[in-house]
Amino acid sequence: MAAPSLKKFAFHTLQQGKTLAGLAHKELSNKLMEVFAPEAAPGKFPIDQDLITEIRRSMDNLENIDWQEAEAGIYPKSQLFEAPWLEWAKKYPLVWLDMPQTWQRRKRNKTREIPRDVKEEDYPDYYLQNFHHQTDGYLSEHSAEIYDLQVEILFNGTADSMRRRILSPLKTGLKKFLSEDSKKVKVLDIATGTGRTLQQIQSALPEVELYGLDLSGSYLKQASKYLSSRSGDLVQLTRGNAEKMPFPSKSFQALTCVFLFHELPREARQNVLNECFRLLEPGGTLVLADSIQIEDSPKFTSIMENFHKIFHEPYYRDYIIDNINSRLEESGFSSITSESHFMTKVWKANKPI
Ligand SMILES: C[S@@+](CC[C@H](N)C(=O)[O-])C[C@H]1O[C@@H](n2cnc3c(N)ncnc32)[C@H](O)[C@@H]1O
Repeated sequence: MAAPSLKKFAFHTLQQGKTLAGLAHKELSNKLMEVFAPEAAPGKFPIDQDLITEIRRSMDNLENIDWQEAEAGIYPKSQLFEAPWLEWAKKYPLVWLDMPQTWQRRKRNKTREIPRDVKEEDYPDYYLQNFHHQTDGYLSEHSAEIYDLQVEILFNGTADSMRRRILSPLKTGLKKFLSEDSKKVKVLDIATGTGRTLQQIQSALPEVELYGLDLSGSYLKQASKYLSSRSGDLVQLTRGNAEKMPFPSKSFQALTCVFLFHELPREARQNVLNECFRLLEPGGTLVLADSIQIEDSPKFTSIMENFHKIFHEPYYRDYIIDNINSRLEESGFSSITSESHFMTKVWKANKPI
């Protein structure tokens, strides 16, 4: 057997380190919650040893595919190490300082504490909530600043690896457009948040024109700060509702959307897919990534149940049993495929020519 390269070893060590840091953070914060806000501690389904073994196996598989796809040139290996570490280190105390407010919100079951200056009429009603009990929901700079770090902790350092699973299907879907060199290929990342997926696409496909859309001006501001600190072409960021996007029909060759659908009510999920169909050029591809679902990951049912017990995720329970394939078909998509990687399921669907 060939010796693992130094880079592979470094990647493995980094992932292990992130996992340990995530677990240690959660262990300590749970202990503190039990002491200082015991009423906020949610009742959870127990996680037995078999499930822990299964989780480890699934995380190992994710790490392996992440490495293999980098080796295959789907994205540069530097992508595996890419993160604003210094920024995150500076922001880490903010995560702790925010925690007591989160516990209070959970304890009092307060899920609609949105900043006073937010114009409610600018947003759909389902959006005006404290998803994950987070302070200000998605509607403040404070929330945007600590979001990435919170997600990395939540997924024990695997969030970016899971996001990267959209890159291979995206590249496959864009192949024919990229070979017609007369044409500028446009890709839109829907619900882009703080822009981590955009950054990944930019490094895998530097030649495409990139766009990002999100309902949160604060998250887009964070995305803009992050993306402009890197080399690469400018990314156009637009504030808007994914149910009614401010772009002409057939204006993109590919669309991506990561971790949005579990936060939408059913009707909104269908509206977003209908909009995706409208925005794609015939022959174009949609790549969607979100939580795994019960049907294809029954072994992780208790984790999915715990997720919506611990965090305020009002549409998650419905999402994990929703038939997204049927929704894609209803919107007009064909050649639909899906695969799961640890906690993330990725769909690829085409708009017929
Ligand atoms: C869980 S975050 C995912 C963000 C990002 N894609 C990621 O990978 O971290 C959900 C994002 O969806 C955005 N969002 C929620 N509902 C939306 C809607 N109807 N239209 C546009 N963006 C929406 C939120 O503002 C938030 O940035």
